[in-house]
Amino acid sequence: MLHILFFFFLAFVSSSSNAMVNDFCVADLKLSDSPAGYPCVPPAMVTADDFVFSGLGVAGNTTSIINAAVTPAFVAQFPAVNGLGLSLARLDLAKGGVIPMHTHPAASEILLVVHGCITAGFISSSANTVYVKTLKKGDIMIFPQGLLHFQVNSGADGALGFVSFNSPNPGLQITDFALFANNLSSQLVEQTTFLDDATVKRLKGILGGTG
Ligand SMILES: *[C@@H]1O[C@H](CO)[C@@H](O)[C@H](O)[C@H]1NC(C)=O
Ligand SMILES: *[C@@H]1O[C@H](CO)[C@@H](O)[C@H](O)[C@H]1NC(C)=O
Repeated sequence: MLHILFFFFLAFVSSSSNAMVNDFCVADLKLSDSPAGYPCVPPAMVTADDFVFSGLGVAGNTTSIINAAVTPAFVAQFPAVNGLGLSLARLDLAKGGVIPMHTHPAASEILLVVHGCITAGFISSSANTVYVKTLKKGDIMIFPQGLLHFQVNSGADGALGFVSFNSPNPGLQITDFALFANNLSSQLVEQTTFLDDATVKRLKGILGGTG
């Protein structure tokens, strides 16, 4: 019995040390991404600048249908997060702004409200239980991996937040875009959502879908 335990201990130690042979693996974005992340830039080419991203200091452009902007520091913008299981984004919500119902297939999310008032929520997967709260400055909220969630500016002014993910590449699927921004036929959208034809056609018109 002890021998078996010792064997598993050794197997665990060697597998976890193999995983940490490299101190870092700054992504070489010229090569292709894989489930294990991007291949690394040769360490000799990496400098301190690679570990700093200065793109989150200015507000994103919130002039759009959602009156909001997400400025990501994911692996595509900030190659140093490659392989480290984390990333960050800035959330600017103008008055009335909304981050529509969406999911991140690859990551859980934590939101920090820096100023303003954000009503945020997620929906559990089997029971479809709604977890919704109005957050104020300094509040943080968790959105578990893969679950549908949203953020709405519920204050009288702009709101600012930062969201962190436990993946360098969390992925994003916005429900309305998946249903109405592509060429899935209106008939199939209607059959699979129980929405009426006028609503489907109207939303396809707004979001640029066809069919
Ligand atoms: C913000 O985006 C809108 C719509 O795309 C554009 O018309 C406007 O010029 C942009 N504003 C700035 C400051 O870039
Ligand atoms: C829908 O769009 C895809 C590309 O996104 C294309 O391959 C396909 O032929 C299109 N189907 C129809 C029915 O237009």
